[in-house]
Amino acid sequence: MIVRKNMGRVKSLLMLLMVLGFFFATYNLVSLIIDHKAGRDGLESFDEKVIGFTNTNSKFHVAVTATDAAYSQWQCRIMYYWYKKTKDMPGSAMGKFTRILHSGRGDQLMNEIPTFVVDPLPEGLDRGYIVLNRPWAFVQWLEKAKIDEEYILMAEPDHIFVNPLPNLATDTEPAGYPFFYIKPAENEKIMRKFYPKEYGPVTNVDPIGNSPVIIHKFLLEEIAPTWVNVSLRMKDDPETDKAFGWVLEMYAYAVASALHGIKHILRKDFMLQPPWDLEVGKKFIIHYTYGCDYNMQGKLTYGKIGEWRFDKRSYLTGPPPKNLSLPPPGVPESVVRLVKMVNEATANIPNWESLNRS
Ligand SMILES: *[C@@H]1O[C@H](CO)[C@@H](O)[C@H](O)[C@H]1NC(C)=O
Ligand SMILES: *[C@@H]1O[C@H](CO)[C@@H](O)[C@H](O)[C@H]1NC(C)=O
Repeated sequence: MIVRKNMGRVKSLLMLLMVLGFFFATYNLVSLIIDHKAGRDGLESFDEKVIGFTNTNSKFHVAVTATDAAYSQWQCRIMYYWYKKTKDMPGSAMGKFTRILHSGRGDQLMNEIPTFVVDPLPEGLDRGYIVLNRPWAFVQWLEKAKIDEEYILMAEPDHIFVNPLPNLATDTEPAGYPFFYIKPAENEKIMRKFYPKEYGPVTNVDPIGNSPVIIHKFLLEEIAPTWVNVSLRMKDDPETDKAFGWVLEMYAYAVASALHGIKHILRKDFMLQPPWDLEVGKKFIIHYTYGCDYNMQGKLTYGKIGEWRFDKRSYLTGPPPKNLSLPPPGVPESVVRLVKMVNEATANIPNWESLNRS
């Protein structure tokens, strides 16, 4: 379904208030406005029953930024499959789902996955680093879309929901996943170009990227434009570009949120990354960014092509085939689970092998 809303948030809120005005006492309306104006500080006192929004306030909207490349599409299809399966499980705070497609036009998945089309950065600005489009995609989506939930989960196509995800954030503190390779303190000189001394120590910058993060919508609205700005300035600075490489855009989000004085709750159980994390346990998201290579004895051969392997990068131009072979005995449960989940999705998604080839 194509979702293109041109009304700004403020305008649609006003419309809503006008409609509600026919049905509710002025007192309730006034308190609604005051609570909305008070933003995140007013949420605790928000009387949900008054306007019948019970239970929607703490839900988060699942937002995944994506392109129309086959590689992005097949991952989104698997992700959306598992979103639908876990969404209504006890303990889940998942709300609706949007694929924010930053290719500037629709693709063949519009009827399968709820999608909001936004523009890519102007020609040349991303300098071939396609993920620079993410912050700009979020700015456009926040501005133009009607988002019912108060919170947003920023997700990526290679995320699989493995346990029902609760809202890990509070209204003032978003929740993020601490990445071991995001090290603000070890990059002080570069950090200072974007996070000046007067803001405090560089350790104020969280060791995170923008995803996975669950964050109150109002906070993301504050951070997102700064995130665009910081990511473009970082890409524009050769020293920073060289030092941060493919994680530049993660640092840009971490810095942007710190510039707004926002600290994240760091949740190691937010996700797991096979093959390094061996068990799913009670973690919530499987992130399959690393290749999983094993020999037939079940020993990890990382960096060397394994006799048995699962690596998303083997499928750059089209989807993986259905029914991938399961790993040999001895391979960690996390990897077995990942392959089983991929197989279940590909067995059940209609037109799996024909739809998304490039
Ligand atoms: C980013 O912000 C700085 C400081 O506020 C401003 O001078 C600069 O023009 C902005 N850059 C972009 C690319 O928006
Ligand atoms: C999947 O592949 C295995 C062999 O690896 C085979 O035994 C099984 O029947 C296949 N399942 C389906 C549904 O095709």
